[in-house]
Amino acid sequence: MIKSIRDWPIRTLKLELDGRTIKDVSRAFAAHMGQTPEQLIDTSLDSILTAASRLYFLSALDPKLRQNLDCEQHTLYLKTPLGSLPFLTSAHPQHANQALLVFMPADQHLVLQQQLIQERDYTESLNRDLSRQQHQLIDQRNRQKELLEKLENTNHELLQTEKLAALGQLAAGIAHEINNPVGYIQSNLNSLDHYLTTLLAILTDAKGDDIKQRLAAENFDFIKDDLVDLLNESQQGVQHITSITQALTQFTRAPGKEQTCELHDQINTTLRVIHNELKNKAHIQRQFSQSPLRVRFDPAQLNQVMMNLLINAAQAIERFGEINIVSEIDGNYAKVTITDSGAGMDEHTLNHAIEPFFTTKPEGEGTGLGLSLVYNMIRRHFGKLQIDSDVGQGTTVTLWLPLAQECDNDSDSESGTTAR
Ligand SMILES: Nc1ncnc2c1ncn2[C@@H]1O[C@H](COP(=O)(O)OP(=O)(O)OP(=O)(O)O)[C@@H](O)[C@H]1O
Ligand SMILES: [Mg+2]
Repeated sequence: MIKSIRDWPIRTLKLELDGRTIKDVSRAFAAHMGQTPEQLIDTSLDSILTAASRLYFLSALDPKLRQNLDCEQHTLYLKTPLGSLPFLTSAHPQHANQALLVFMPADQHLVLQQQLIQERDYTESLNRDLSRQQHQLIDQRNRQKELLEKLENTNHELLQTEKLAALGQLAAGIAHEINNPVGYIQSNLNSLDHYLTTLLAILTDAKGDDIKQRLAAENFDFIKDDLVDLLNESQQGVQHITSITQALTQFTRAPGKEQTCELHDQINTTLRVIHNELKNKAHIQRQFSQSPLRVRFDPAQLNQVMMNLLINAAQAIERFGEINIVSEIDGNYAKVTITDSGAGMDEHTLNHAIEPFFTTKPEGEGTGLGLSLVYNMIRRHFGKLQIDSDVGQGTTVTLWLPLAQECDNDSDSESGTTAR
């Protein structure tokens, strides 16, 4: 039950429906009517309503209030000291046939309405902003997706570029390797040509004992031995060239065709291809496990891995040193360690070595992509990479490559790198 509405800050009156007697009013209402609450109490509502509003109250509000129903937002005209003014009125039934009437000047109602409209417009503009931002986010997400795709492609292109750059670097060495046997095969062929011309002339012109004399005159004993030597040497030269070209063909094979390969074959292929870069830098020692190690690795990419690591090792050696390659089985992995007696790495270099474009080499000598590509290729094949290094002590790179026969159920095995 409401005790007193006198101090309410809104314009309110309490009404007895029978007789429509005002039982109480708020001071705010009395002030608006230019009277004191006491002057208004016990007077009739009819006395402060215009005739039309009196009728309207009786027909529209009174019946609803008697049925205990609220009446919202009806316009009633009150006789104020400023004349008859419209008030937006809500009426609420109370116990004992009473009702509370709340009046709001219609102009205030308009102000409120205006505020509501402004707030609605503001909310709408907020909504528009939100949906614009949402679109922007979607756009950004799409752009990021495109960028990621481009990055993947660039990564792929980098791989190809690195391969081409590496081949370019190797080309000079390989040309030298091939030129050498080609040079002596050429000179051997000249000698053979000369010997053949001489011998054919003797065979064509001479008769009987004459042949022996002429052969002796041409130093046939020496020619006989030399012929064999020349042929042997030339055959070896051709074999050497063949082995280089075979290794090169294997080395440049398109990646992704084969899933597995034999680790030692790939190491040997790589060593053959980069023989020229290593021979003046290090003595290469191989300690391979007794049994062949078939690994689940694309052979062309394994060559790339080995080439980058071996060339790094050779480049770290200032004059002449050692590079040891050891292979063994370690659980489901083939473990390969490549140890060099080079300059080693300080902590900063070690921590950043596998970052793309990180290099300590002079401009034009290193792109800084070698180890990052090695790391990516190892990761893609679910292998692991660890680099241990100390300044002046050399570097050991350890690889764990999944063994082909063991790793069919092992695709979720850990992959990654650590540096120490
Ligand atoms: N075996 C190593 N001994 C000492 N430092 C090494 C060795 N391997 C790599 N590093 C260091 O790590 C850096 C990054 O190696 P990475 O192979 O990624 O690039 P790079 O050799 O400088 O250039 P690129 O391989 O493109 O010719 C090297 O510049 C070098 O400082
Ligand atoms: Mg390198």
